[in-house]
Amino acid sequence: MSAPIRILMCSPDHYDVDYVINPWMEGNIHKSSRDRAAEQWDKLHFILKDLAAVDLVKPQLGVPDMVFTANAGLVLGNNVVLSRFYHKERQGEEPFFKAWFEQQGYTVFELPKDLPFEGAGDALLDREGRWLWAGYGFRSELDSHPYLAKWLDIEVLSLRLMDDRFYHLDTCFCPLADGYLLYYPPAFDAYSNRLIEMRVPEAKRIAVAETDAVNFACNAVNVDRTIVMNQASDDLKQRLANVGFEIIETPLTEFLKAGGAAKCLTLRVTEPVQAEVHAAATVESRVIQLQGHLLDSGIVNRALDLIIEGGGSFQVLNFNLGEQRQSTSSAEVKVTAPSRDVMEAIMSQLIEMGAVALPQEVSDCTLEIAPKAGVAPDDFYVTTIYPTEILVKNQWVRVQNQRMDGAIVVSETPNGLTARCSLLRDLAEGDRVVVGTIGIRTVRKPESRNPQPTQEFSFMGAGVSSERRVELVVEQIAWELRKIRDQGGKVVVTAGPVVIHTGGGEHLSHLIREGYVQALLGGNAIAVHDIEQSMMGTSLGMDMKRGVSVRGGHRHHLKAINTVRRYGSIAEAVHQGVITGGIFYECVQKNIPFSLAGSIRDDGPLPDTQMDLIQAQSDYARLIEGADMILMLSSMLHSIGVGNMTPAGVKMVCVDINPAVVTKLSDRGSVESVGVVTDVGLFLSLLIQQLSRLTSRYEAAVVR
Ligand code: ARG
Repeated sequence: MSAPIRILMCSPDHYDVDYVINPWMEGNIHKSSRDRAAEQWDKLHFILKDLAAVDLVKPQLGVPDMVFTANAGLVLGNNVVLSRFYHKERQGEEPFFKAWFEQQGYTVFELPKDLPFEGAGDALLDREGRWLWAGYGFRSELDSHPYLAKWLDIEVLSLRLMDDRFYHLDTCFCPLADGYLLYYPPAFDAYSNRLIEMRVPEAKRIAVAETDAVNFACNAVNVDRTIVMNQASDDLKQRLANVGFEIIETPLTEFLKAGGAAKCLTLRVTEPVQAEVHAAATVESRVIQLQGHLLDSGIVNRALDLIIEGGGSFQVLNFNLGEQRQSTSSAEVKVTAPSRDVMEAIMSQLIEMGAVALPQEVSDCTLEIAPKAGVAPDDFYVTTIYPTEILVKNQWVRVQNQRMDGAIVVSETPNGLTARCSLLRDLAEGDRVVVGTIGIRTVRKPESRNPQPTQEFSFMGAGVSSERRVELVVEQIAWELRKIRDQGGKVVVTAGPVVIHTGGGEHLSHLIREGYVQALLGGNAIAVHDIEQSMMGTSLGMDMKRGVSVRGGHRHHLKAINTVRRYGSIAEAVHQGVITGGIFYECVQKNIPFSLAGSIRDDGPLPDTQMDLIQAQSDYARLIEGADMILMLSSMLHSIGVGNMTPAGVKMVCVDINPAVVTKLSDRGSVESVGVVTDVGLFLSLLIQQLSRLTSRYEAAVVR
């Protein structure tokens, strides 16, 4: 037999619930009975003495949680990493534990100040000694894990705790003999669960239900085939018995009031070192730089929240606060993540926020070859709407055709290096594609000091003031349309059939006739209803003037389709004098290009409707190139499609009666979008009114 197992305990002479540092302690201040605690502790001590040698550390006044020796430190072989408690309430225990370890001849490692780590409460050795499971999220900082790997020379697997009832790893996770694992999966995030499942085969994973978890069944002491715990359900006992474990239950309810049980009350101080096991830390760190109105715009908060929510942790290395209202600030933040994947996910979001990853020394972006046509390398960088630059051969190169959800392809041309956004399906085998997040930056206009990313205006909602606000937005939009037209700019309209149903057809026609629209995007329906209205005065069979259904009117739209099909195209039907007014009439007359993207529900379709959706997507993309403004009029599908292809910097105006649609469209984190919740027919009529007012004022000024 190998050397005897030794366990460290601390008798509860001064134990009490004195403060609240975890949810179990809430409402339990001074509610535990010292006598009962002593009795329960004695029983546990008695049971364990049978299984191992128990060492005792002297309890101290003023540090009531010292009974939880699991939090003294983490031992492996002759080395111990001393705990640095997160809460000041427990920091007073540190010198006593340190003294005990030193007396026993351990080599004591101490973490940098302000880097919390709570010992074997948050770090559990695989019972075969193959690796160390380390928790973070509440008490221990992820940044402490690389130190554990280095000092103890062991692989560290970082697990993120998500439920504050299970604030220490040992409250919900217990590696057992023979590679078994007793644990409560919902206490961990998805990534950690995947990691656990990768390391522990299904047959060896014993997941407990919440009832057992809250009875601290996972907070167990395991010696060979014996498991000592507070309490287990019959079902759990049976499952453990089935795989050869014997359970000893011993009530520890007095300690539960402080958020601890069997395992917390012990520290295994003999942990043999496996000779063939060595350090490997999967934890990664990067330094990012942020610049701008960091405080006023709320960027720092968002960036730091994003790091935590993404499963990482951070350290602010420096922060230069802009002193004047108008001066910008800059910050360098060290980001740590438990693995490469998590790091990449966090980094791409940070880059989207405008952060620049500072590699140890500035280094080029990484390129990998597309493995086959239409397929990017696994780790490809997914583009955003923001202007992007990549570092190649020490030069920042601007990416062309910026759009979101693409990959970046780098190619060598006679004029030097170029980079462009490419859709996955357009990748050719052998294309060189940017992967990872190093050497990539998005160029953001300095965010305004006003943190509100989008504006929304509600029109139909009650309240007089909001009407005035919509009038104000319409005034602004009219002004902008006017300016773009006069400067020879480009306005693209995407429109749904609701434009016709709400009586907006004549207004949109007017906009086109007056030169305010340079391209029109829609689907089959808007054209069908527009043409039906122009030919028969109805929209889906409704008389547009009288607002009543016309007899047999439900066939009108099919007649319209049939007519256009006979002439071969909308343009031809216009030229032949069959269509004599309406949106598409104006487009044909003014030579305004339009694209109609088909869908599964289309009647007909019209000969102009593009049923090859890949082709339709590229037609749309071509037509929005160089747009200054996109007016999205009540067409969720086509507008989202357009939004996906539009780079930042293009002003988008989304009008819909459904606030959810407006939010969805304007919420691209881009400052340039304006949402207007209103009836689109009404919106267009207001817009026309505003424009004519502007025009008359303008013309009056010119004449004078
Ligand atoms: N009241 C103690 C705390 O919140 C309980 C510690 C329990 N220990 C443990 N290893 N889970 O720190």
